[in-house]
Amino acid sequence: MCGIVGYIGKQEAANVLLGGLKRLEYRGYDSAGIAVLNGSLSVVKQKGNVASLGEAIKQSDGMVSDATIGIGHTRWATHGDPSDRNAHPHLNAQGDIALIHNGIIENHAALRVELANHGYSFSSDTDSEVLVHLIDHLWESIPFLDFEGAVRQALTVVEGAYGICVISGREPDKVIVARKGSPLVIGIGENEFFIASDAAPLVEYTRKVVYLSDGEMAVVHRDGYKVKTIDNVVQEKALTELDFELEEIEKGGFEHFMLKEIFEQPDVMEDVMRGRVRIEDARVQLGGIADQLEQLRKAQRIIICACGTSWHAGLIGEYLIEEFANIPVEVDYASEFRYRKPIIGPGDVMLVISQSGETADTLAALRLAKEKGATVIGICNVVGSTIARETHCGMYTHAGPEIGVASTKAFTAQVIVLTMLALALSKERTMSDAEVMQALYCLDTLPERVKNILECRDQIVDIAEHYKDARNFLYLGRGYNFPVALEGALKLKEISYIHAEGYPAAEMKHGPIALIDEEMPVVVIAPKDTTYKKVLSNIEEVRTRKGRVIAIATEGDEEIKALADHVIYVPAGAPFIMPLLTVIPLQMLSYYIATLRGCDVDRPRNLAKSVTVE
Ligand code: F6R
Repeated sequence: MCGIVGYIGKQEAANVLLGGLKRLEYRGYDSAGIAVLNGSLSVVKQKGNVASLGEAIKQSDGMVSDATIGIGHTRWATHGDPSDRNAHPHLNAQGDIALIHNGIIENHAALRVELANHGYSFSSDTDSEVLVHLIDHLWESIPFLDFEGAVRQALTVVEGAYGICVISGREPDKVIVARKGSPLVIGIGENEFFIASDAAPLVEYTRKVVYLSDGEMAVVHRDGYKVKTIDNVVQEKALTELDFELEEIEKGGFEHFMLKEIFEQPDVMEDVMRGRVRIEDARVQLGGIADQLEQLRKAQRIIICACGTSWHAGLIGEYLIEEFANIPVEVDYASEFRYRKPIIGPGDVMLVISQSGETADTLAALRLAKEKGATVIGICNVVGSTIARETHCGMYTHAGPEIGVASTKAFTAQVIVLTMLALALSKERTMSDAEVMQALYCLDTLPERVKNILECRDQIVDIAEHYKDARNFLYLGRGYNFPVALEGALKLKEISYIHAEGYPAAEMKHGPIALIDEEMPVVVIAPKDTTYKKVLSNIEEVRTRKGRVIAIATEGDEEIKALADHVIYVPAGAPFIMPLLTVIPLQMLSYYIATLRGCDVDRPRNLAKSVTVE
């Protein structure tokens, strides 16, 4: 989603802003721009990437050099096409207020008409531009209002979601920021302050940050900042210490972030389990939910809400919790849950899963569940994110910053947390110590097994070469591997733009089989488990219709070789562990097909890393 950076201090603002925008590129965008204040406002903005914005800034005859205050933005088009004129920052008519905005102003059309009646004209098609004119209008028309007051007034008028950063030549030594539904964080330096929509641009400058909450705004000066609510009530904010290193958000020798993140998974898996998996006492220690564990064990049911890849992790969670803890689970798309009339109340438990912790639909589902009295637990990757803060309790995935837009390591980390949660809930309820110990041992050996799978890179590149020009793919799996089939298909379509569908293998004959011909690669996840023989029959059915089969199978399975065109082996393991193994070759297959097709895997078209709008 759009990215925000802001700076006030002693360094050349344009450099800090450009560097920050570069770090936000992973969120997805189609235009970029900055505004700096040096007596007057200078703006450089255009369609295209941050590198070309950098060139344009160089060509701007030093207009922007020496300025030590400014704001910058990467825009992901929602209202108005990607173009120079729709790029942020937006200016008022006199050119002395500049604003950048993430989110959506829902009443922009009505405000546009109202402002036009007051003589305002618009130079973009965006909803955001309305806000800068509204600030200008209120500042001009209400006596004794200052900059802060004008922004505050404007925010009481707009409906929708926003993260904004505003500067003005009329009150030049401040940056005003505010949020509602769109994250903002302030980085605290020595007489300098950094503002961003996530912590990635801040970490090279400072580890001390303040996360704004919804309904808060801050006025940031060179020597300090003050946070208030939109209603003007001063807020005491706690400082948070960032816990990741700069190198974690750099590529570390890999060609893409996505590949780096795929190969990081063995280490991530160790990080997720560190201190939590206690084989010797057959226990899982989940500090974040320790106080609520008993209540959770008594839950009549658990509702899991999430979006996209996190929803797929949730589906695996359903299998895990029902198998280990014997608690009924429902899994819902957060976007559907929030607009149904969901039956949920005190005594129910909602589990929300989100890598970013900022997904608008997931956040809305959690708020609704809280409102109705349910206990809400979060599984998030981004520390201090809105979802992490608004849930009653939760568990971090500790996967480190995930920069590639297509989620990989965060997914496996989520599934491990769900596995640990299911085991923690099972204790003394449905499993013996020996069984828990056995399951924990299995988890503990996971990183080594994943390392083995990653070694089949060359084979997967080969398979990718074979199928890179396919127009459609089908992914089939059963039980724990059905959600993996969905995830494999999603990964392929989002980064390679090849149409792909995931199905429970047995559903194939209820429709998708009609699609199968010699042009159709079918990825079948077929580990040796209780449905193995049935999945083999599905493979036979695909073969009969001349479909091409890529099987993900258990090491040592010779039988499947006779049926499949290609077999990628994964180590043997208990059924519950298999999704964490079988998903790895699928991530790699998508990656290599996409790169062979020349796609920008880290920034796939039309996609955003953090979906903070509906
Ligand atoms: C796909 C992907 C998305 C996200 C979804 C939810 O690779 O990353 O489908 O999983 O947008 O995002 P989070 O997990 O941040 O709530």
